Amino acid sequence: MARVFSGIQPSGDLHLGNLLGALMNWVNHQEEHDAVYCIVDLHALTLPKDPEELRSNTLQLAQLLMAVGLDPNKSTLFVQSHVQEHSQLAWLMECTVSFGELSRMTAFKDKSDRSEFISAGLFTYPALQAADILLYDTDLVPVGDDQRQHIEITRDVAERFNHRFGETFVVPQHVIPKAGARVMDLQHPERKMSKSEHSVNGTINVLENPDSVRKKIKRAVTDSDGEVRFDFEEKAGVSNLLSILGAAKGIPPSEVATSFERYGDLKAATADAVIELLSPIQERFADLQSDPAETRRLLQVGADKAREVASATLTRAQHNCGLLES
Ligand code: TRP
Repeated sequence: MARVFSGIQPSGDLHLGNLLGALMNWVNHQEEHDAVYCIVDLHALTLPKDPEELRSNTLQLAQLLMAVGLDPNKSTLFVQSHVQEHSQLAWLMECTVSFGELSRMTAFKDKSDRSEFISAGLFTYPALQAADILLYDTDLVPVGDDQRQHIEITRDVAERFNHRFGETFVVPQHVIPKAGARVMDLQHPERKMSKSEHSVNGTINVLENPDSVRKKIKRAVTDSDGEVRFDFEEKAGVSNLLSILGAAKGIPPSEVATSFERYGDLKAATADAVIELLSPIQERFADLQSDPAETRRLLQVGADKAREVASATLTRAQHNCGLLES
């Protein structure tokens, strides 16, 4: 079975874009793959974070992921800092990646432009990400196109290490999730739905209540030509609604378009579909939230499972690059 690895930063909530773009795929991958999912709290530290917020966001994200359908019995779900091999391999990766390669990362440029304190960790972020992926002999990394450079650098670093020190790492492949990947801001349909934009009316949270979901979808920006047609270039707002409705129902958006003549009807159906999708998730979340000790126990089980693979890979890497066994 091919191994899939993906990571997600612990921000306290998830929005519809995360859910329909990435997480539904993560849930599906559990069935046909050996899936490993990591809440990357160490990566979160690359930008200033409030300690209590980080801790509670990490726990809450674990509960959200489980509520969405990541099943600790089917896949491995764990917190990055619980498996120390990540930090340990990250150092070896830092010594394998070059300053020039790190300097070319657009994610670093974007984030450092927006931050007044630029940590060294923000710069070496891709080395830690490479360690995450390579520790698990990962075959496939299902992440969005925005992660392309990070996956490429991981492949380059793996190949370089193997070339210098002999076969050590599996060289992973990037898979860009296909269907439903495109969820845009409801108020600014030309840009992706994103937490960092602080567009309250353009973003639907996974934990949002039905009334608020309906209101936001009702107010979503469309256009004035009145035709329901899937065409992101010309009709971004309408296409976004079709894309959300299609992804929630598992139907291609262009097919969804043929069922509607009026924007009002499309909006009502989209709101219904989103509410129907979210309500069981919200119920499961409430259950999980009522028993944090159980979530912690499940994360512990996940970390133990992860560590088994990670420690073998780390030992191999340490040996191959010449560190003396302790
Ligand atoms: N950089 C990823 C993001 O911002 C998160 C991440 C960290 C990740 N380590 C990973 C993704 C390993 C995939 C594999 O979304």
